[in-house]
Amino acid sequence: MDKIVIEGGRPLKGAVKVSGAKNAALPTIAACILCSGAHRLTNIPQLKDISTIKKIMSKFGILFHDEGDVLVVNSDNLTCYEAPYDLVKTMRASILLLGPLLARYGKAKISLPGGCAIGARPVNLHLKALAAMGVDMFLDHGYINAGTSGMQGANISFDIPTVTGTENIMMAAVTAKGTTVLKNSAKEPEVMDLADMLRGMGADIEGDGTDTIIIRGVKELEAARHTVIPDRIETGTFMIAAAMSKGEVKIEGCRSAHLQALIEKLDAAGARVSFSDDSIFVKGPDVIESVDIKTRPFPGFPTDLQAQFMAFMCIADGWSMIRETVFENRFIHVSELQRMGANIEINGNQALVKGVPHLLSAPVMATDLRASASLILAGLVAESGRTEVHRIYHLDRGYENMEEKFRNLGANLWREKA
Ligand code: EPZ
Repeated sequence: MDKIVIEGGRPLKGAVKVSGAKNAALPTIAACILCSGAHRLTNIPQLKDISTIKKIMSKFGILFHDEGDVLVVNSDNLTCYEAPYDLVKTMRASILLLGPLLARYGKAKISLPGGCAIGARPVNLHLKALAAMGVDMFLDHGYINAGTSGMQGANISFDIPTVTGTENIMMAAVTAKGTTVLKNSAKEPEVMDLADMLRGMGADIEGDGTDTIIIRGVKELEAARHTVIPDRIETGTFMIAAAMSKGEVKIEGCRSAHLQALIEKLDAAGARVSFSDDSIFVKGPDVIESVDIKTRPFPGFPTDLQAQFMAFMCIADGWSMIRETVFENRFIHVSELQRMGANIEINGNQALVKGVPHLLSAPVMATDLRASASLILAGLVAESGRTEVHRIYHLDRGYENMEEKFRNLGANLWREKA
């Protein structure tokens, strides 16, 4: 297993271009199942999760090849509809294959994704919505066995705005008979990006980006031509890194409209933030003001930036309250930050962070994707010595060329065999 070694204490300076969004690429690749033909996707990041979903879909008989920076997905021959446990357990987002397989094939056998470090991650809302659309399902030996003689549009209201749940039902509904009205739908930019791709394929969808999405079933679709949006979580990670290290960084090729909640909090912390549509400039403050955050579904403060922002508040001047309202166990990074000298008290879904003058380098262990990013950020500002972040395979799931991007901003970090 690899580790990343960091010699901290250098302010980040320069410009960095972010990659395509992992959480937009996954549903758009899955959506290529919906119809035959050669789909052409651009700005797909080279990540472990992307290779996992390609591996699973290749087992279905789907062909992938690269033409320059275009990923071509050919789903003419769908010969299998089973997503095996050994692959699904490494990437829960495999549940996104359920809706498209049912729409195209009428059958699907997907390993029930287990929980993960940050929570139980149930998929009950996905299954309840599909049942309302005429899908018969039963659980058997850890697999969801689903079948339908043809899905019907339905009126669905999610108890909780679920991102992949919204995406799954959108994909299931595009060729269903009749109209599907999805209430309390997720409003994330990744949901809107998928809707854009589906409309480009001929789907009839409106209301994406609001809490009510209407999908009118169409008879047929055509192969997609789609460019995936930039990764707002990678963008936010670099913004926080710039502020923490008291550096000056321009993030290019991003969408500032996707990061307004973070921009507001960085402003409050004393950072100087300016932005255009596709770039954001962050200059870190000399004194970091402590700021409270509460994670919320989009457009609220993203849960996927909570760990990174907590690392930032660890060296703020004062106390900050961090409330995690989306996942039930998303404070695993706290014990690792405490090993670096952070002063954090957890009480249920709240973490009270008392800023310390500086963090100290230490060997630490990544436990999930965004926790690994927060430990890298902490290592970048830690004083005296080297921080080693172990189990860095978590980072490779969601960040493309992270070390290289940070090195180009003046950081001193490298990868080693652990
Ligand atoms: C997506 O996960 C993202 N993953 C997550 O990013 C992100 O943290 C999350 O949305 C929230 O923004 C992808 O898009 C691939 P949810 P998802 O369904 O869809 C509960 C990362 O780091 N819930 O919106 O799985 C659930 O337990 C990852 O890139 C149910 O109870 O999240 C959670 O408390 C981590 N039943 C809440 O809803 C369900 O059927 C929101 O989860 C579905 C969800």
